[in-house]
Amino acid sequence: MAEFNQVYARAAYYDIAFRRDISREVEFIAAEYQRLNGRPLASLLEIACGPGYHVRDFARRGVRAIGLDLMPEMIDFARAEAEAEGVQAAWIAADMRGFALSAPVDAIITMYDSIDCLSTGDDLVDHFRTVAKNLTPGGIYLFEVTHPRDCSMWNYGSHAYRGERNGTKVEIIWAVNNPVPDPFTQVAKVETILRVTENGKTTDYPDTAHERFTLPQEFIALIKLAGGLEVVECYGDFVQGLKMDNSPASRRMIFVLRKPVEP
Ligand SMILES: C[S@@+](CC[C@H](N)C(=O)[O-])C[C@H]1O[C@@H](n2cnc3c(N)ncnc32)[C@H](O)[C@@H]1O
Repeated sequence: MAEFNQVYARAAYYDIAFRRDISREVEFIAAEYQRLNGRPLASLLEIACGPGYHVRDFARRGVRAIGLDLMPEMIDFARAEAEAEGVQAAWIAADMRGFALSAPVDAIITMYDSIDCLSTGDDLVDHFRTVAKNLTPGGIYLFEVTHPRDCSMWNYGSHAYRGERNGTKVEIIWAVNNPVPDPFTQVAKVETILRVTENGKTTDYPDTAHERFTLPQEFIALIKLAGGLEVVECYGDFVQGLKMDNSPASRRMIFVLRKPVEP
């Protein structure tokens, strides 16, 4: 029987399949904050941080960095990795629709399509309001999702992720059911298989994820409805000045929002 989003509870396997070089993304985020505020980024929260790749990289660069994820297993894994590397960061298990940091941060980020986990417009509005409350004036919120050309309501595509470490092979096959989102709710029920081969034995962990498809103009309308954040730009990749459009170079949808300096 399929489980709900348990792929995220098996953090060590997630890490084998998804660990990647995110340094270009981190440099882009730091440069965007500097460009908009004329000073370096001092503090950052990553929402839906998973193993905390971005959190740990920012912390290594001297930024006060915090990782937040719904799954306590992910948070435990990220904390243990940071401690093993001697990296100082803070970790919180919480829901991205409502959380309160002890002090606001200069930047908040949600990477790698994680905002798709919010399945209603109300969830997105609650999320944007929560983000705005936890930012310093002038602070930025950056979230990244797949370009609608590559994964959308009418073209989910097929996606597989693989990795191998210390004799353990992990394959995550996303969307084995060729999902078609509900045309009214815009939510797809996505069946996945986490396939693990270790000690000569292969085990399949079936899972289900609910993902919502949101187009750029809808994001903009929900951000306006939430209040407290202004849209600065929507980029097509982690490249300064590259706007999101239909050119081949534009491969992602990266929104940068800013909390006004004056309320
Ligand atoms: C695709 S993973 C991304 C992980 C990481 N940011 C990365 O770049 O690899 C999505 C993450 O979102 C988390 N998540 C899902 N729903 C959430 C929610 N409501 N609040 C906070 N985190 C959530 C999952 O536990 C999972 O770790």
